[in-house]
Amino acid sequence: MQPWTLVGVLSLLLAVPDALAVKSHDFKTCSQAGFCRRGRALSARAAETKAWKSPYSVDVSSIAITPDKAVFTAGVHSSLYPDIHFGLELRVHEDGVVRVRLDEVNGLRKRYDEAASWALIAEPKISQDITWTAGKKDIRAKYGNNEVVVAFEPLTVSLLRGGKPQVVLNGRGLLHMEHFRNKKVEETKTEEAAPAPEEGAEDAAEQVVLQAEAEPEVNPRAWFEGETEDDWWEERFSTWTDSKPKGPESLSIDISFPSHGTIYGIPQHATRLALPTTAGDSPTFTDPYRLYNADVFEYLASSPMSLYGSIPVLHAHSADSTVGIFHAVGSETWIDVSHASDKSTETHWISESGILDLFLMPGPTPADIFAQYSRLTGTPVLPPHWSLGYHQCRWNYISSEDIRTVQKRFDEEDMPVDVFWLDIEYADEHKYFMWDEKNFPDPVEMTNDVAANGRKMVVIVDPHLKRTSNYPAFQEASDRKVLVKQPNGEGEYEGWCWSGSSSWIDFFDPNSWDWWKGLFKTTALKSGWSWTSSTTDIHIWNDMNEPSVFNGPEISMPRDNIHYGGWEHRDVHNINGMLFSNLSSKAVQERTDPPQRPFVLTRSFFAGSQRFGAMWTGDNLGTWEHMAVGVQMVLANGIAGMSFAGSDVGGFFGNPEPEMLIRWYQVGIFNPFLRAHAHIDTKRREPFLLEQPYKGIVKDLLRLRYTMLPVWYTAFRETSVTGVPVLRPHYVVFPKDPKGFAVDDQYFIGASGILVKPITTKGATETTVYLAEDEVYYDYFSHHVYRGAAKGKEISVKAELHQVPVFVRGGSIVPTRERPRRSSPLMKLDPFTLRVALSKAGSARGELYLDDGVTYSHEKGQFVWREFTAQTAKKTVRITTKDLGAEKKEEAVDGVALASYNPTNVYAETIKDVRVEKIVVEGLSGKPASVKVEGGKELVWEYAPGIAAGGKGEGVAGVLTIKDPKVLVVKDWTIVIQL
Ligand code: GLC
Repeated sequence: MQPWTLVGVLSLLLAVPDALAVKSHDFKTCSQAGFCRRGRALSARAAETKAWKSPYSVDVSSIAITPDKAVFTAGVHSSLYPDIHFGLELRVHEDGVVRVRLDEVNGLRKRYDEAASWALIAEPKISQDITWTAGKKDIRAKYGNNEVVVAFEPLTVSLLRGGKPQVVLNGRGLLHMEHFRNKKVEETKTEEAAPAPEEGAEDAAEQVVLQAEAEPEVNPRAWFEGETEDDWWEERFSTWTDSKPKGPESLSIDISFPSHGTIYGIPQHATRLALPTTAGDSPTFTDPYRLYNADVFEYLASSPMSLYGSIPVLHAHSADSTVGIFHAVGSETWIDVSHASDKSTETHWISESGILDLFLMPGPTPADIFAQYSRLTGTPVLPPHWSLGYHQCRWNYISSEDIRTVQKRFDEEDMPVDVFWLDIEYADEHKYFMWDEKNFPDPVEMTNDVAANGRKMVVIVDPHLKRTSNYPAFQEASDRKVLVKQPNGEGEYEGWCWSGSSSWIDFFDPNSWDWWKGLFKTTALKSGWSWTSSTTDIHIWNDMNEPSVFNGPEISMPRDNIHYGGWEHRDVHNINGMLFSNLSSKAVQERTDPPQRPFVLTRSFFAGSQRFGAMWTGDNLGTWEHMAVGVQMVLANGIAGMSFAGSDVGGFFGNPEPEMLIRWYQVGIFNPFLRAHAHIDTKRREPFLLEQPYKGIVKDLLRLRYTMLPVWYTAFRETSVTGVPVLRPHYVVFPKDPKGFAVDDQYFIGASGILVKPITTKGATETTVYLAEDEVYYDYFSHHVYRGAAKGKEISVKAELHQVPVFVRGGSIVPTRERPRRSSPLMKLDPFTLRVALSKAGSARGELYLDDGVTYSHEKGQFVWREFTAQTAKKTVRITTKDLGAEKKEEAVDGVALASYNPTNVYAETIKDVRVEKIVVEGLSGKPASVKVEGGKELVWEYAPGIAAGGKGEGVAGVLTIKDPKVLVVKDWTIVIQL
């Protein structure tokens, strides 16, 4: 506990938010975190010692394989501690994923081994198809083209494909599971002899001599553990002391990718998508990437520092293979990245506590990794359709009248918006759920006024509960004893946050779950308090759930705080925020019967958060650098599952000039989650406040987002089934093209063929776009055709302030809805436009997915899922459509995403009259002779001839516009274009 002085409290209160102006020095560097320092020192010693040899080996006599051949277990010991036992377990899943677990056996204490249980959706199915071969030096499990090899001495685990190593664990000998020990016992133990790295080798021999000649107190394990008990038993940082009652328990392991030169993932960090090096000869960053959920005020736009969420998932990529790693660990973890060559990557993972629980995902393509990871932790959520619209937020809309006025202004300007947000000031003394009745006297009526236009509200509920008896959420939690406890495990932990003196619910305690869900009910409960002054049109924003504690170490909870089951906060820190938002999401879902899809935005997240809601990149700065890195962060979050992501449009801090605001809207409308937000000290900047021409530009951008909602929703559906992210970076779409591996400032939306390159620099009037293939790409707005090249090619395009570079990849059919509406639900029965962007070979394909957007009836087959194709043959282009739902029974990776299409489809019935009102075909070889629905009369159409320029089909595409072909979106039809 921190000594709290009244002066300290007052100064904090008065100075908010400046007192929170925490800078880098408020957060640990690796050298300030005992276990990270020890881990890196181990790596440094290993690098300096030629004959370095890991002390861990497999006890061959203990090897066991279950009768079904599915699970391999073996004892492991360290030559430094013959009396300490470790257990290795290896299992191969049905889909080829290899799970490797290492734990201490019969240790002084139990290590935290539950991280996977929070992340995984189910116990993975084990392969029945493995052949084990035991040799003198190793044991091998063969399955298909893959092989796992466990070498005995030293212990290494390798995943091979076609005989070629893909992933190697402990190849550099950095595995170190610091076993639990008793301080006093340990002092006597250090006198035991311990072997040097490798007998006979030069360096090792030197050490042996050293050991023999030195005074008796020389620690014979120093070559491995270091000279001193460095921060083993207590640790200080700034003014805080971590009591570390369990002593040292960190875990380090090197993971090498001998065939992969590029790695991606381990969000969230403000950096490039292809992760820069942190170790080796000339590292970009001097610290490893840190995963320790933290509320970093004014975070840097380029840094390996921790941010709000952590997903220990990594892709290692090369032109012919992708492999992935998921480490189910919930404690603070640092990851060093280095490249021995441009064809291989080495990583070193150092965690504060927990067991080794590694999932090796064999790929071999990025799409396979997404499927493998989704089978483990679930696919991303299919969110409510309205949540893909525009969200208007600021800290704070100050009253219900304010909300009504803002809504009115949007409507007066004909700017679409779906959601109005309320930040913390709606809540009386920041007691969430409790309205400030002076300014929000009529919350239900206010919400109804918003809902009358098809819109929703999102209201913030933070995890810190004000410690006051007139706050039912706190009082009931305290009565139920579900609050996080102090380090000694006795009293409730008390810390400081927006609400002043606060406590935090321990969501690891199952006793908190139903109670928390009950709070969100809009009807009165017998069992306790519920939010009767709300409606089911209110959805939830969960912030500060790292958790952010203003007076805690690193602005969070002390690591020795106690959670359910007696676990320390250090064991579960990175999982903590996820449980809060996941529970909130379930709470919102269960408010209604039948349940409706919840929308919950979370700032903190972990592996598995993708199943429940959206995240955003937190408190970004209104700078160009932050705008640019926001794009990269959203891509990185997406490849680790958190597809439903965005950054605050406008930048949270600062007052963006119109140019920056417009560019930020251009970024925002091409983010999966689109929300404008601003700090309480900023000037109002709702888009209707802009002068012309800026106001008109933003209005057009918002409308563009709405016209493309069918593209977004179709992309989200696919992601919710396959796990392939909504925003697809180049390496995902073109895994074999090395020139695209580092490209992270342009991306594709789902499988739609839409390629976007947002502008994130001041004063830009043009930019370059990378085209990875020999295919035509059409400018979304001008129909200008560009031609890529087989080995990749950069093109220059215009990017004046009103222009955002968007292209349609030749070979795509893009469905849009072009009629401006005030909110997305009002578009439900609007007709569609199809844009057929013919490939250079004259073909195209696209999909459209629709359902009611709010319930789960799609899981029972209440959806419309169409495929559109175009083929050119013998001077005839046939555009046709068929039902994919009935055809593809479903390829869900977790088996629950979508049920088969139901032919007595109630949803389809509701849109049975919805037409395709326009079909635009670009890339025809010339003016058609006739355009008909097959078997029907000539349609109304016009043709704008192309203008050739630059050869190879470049110039402006010829564009055929078919007006109201009177075809329905739920029916099969064919349009025949005779050339
Ligand atoms: C945090 C959030 C920010 C929010 C503020 C007040 O800083 O990241 O979005 O506006 O708290 O709730």
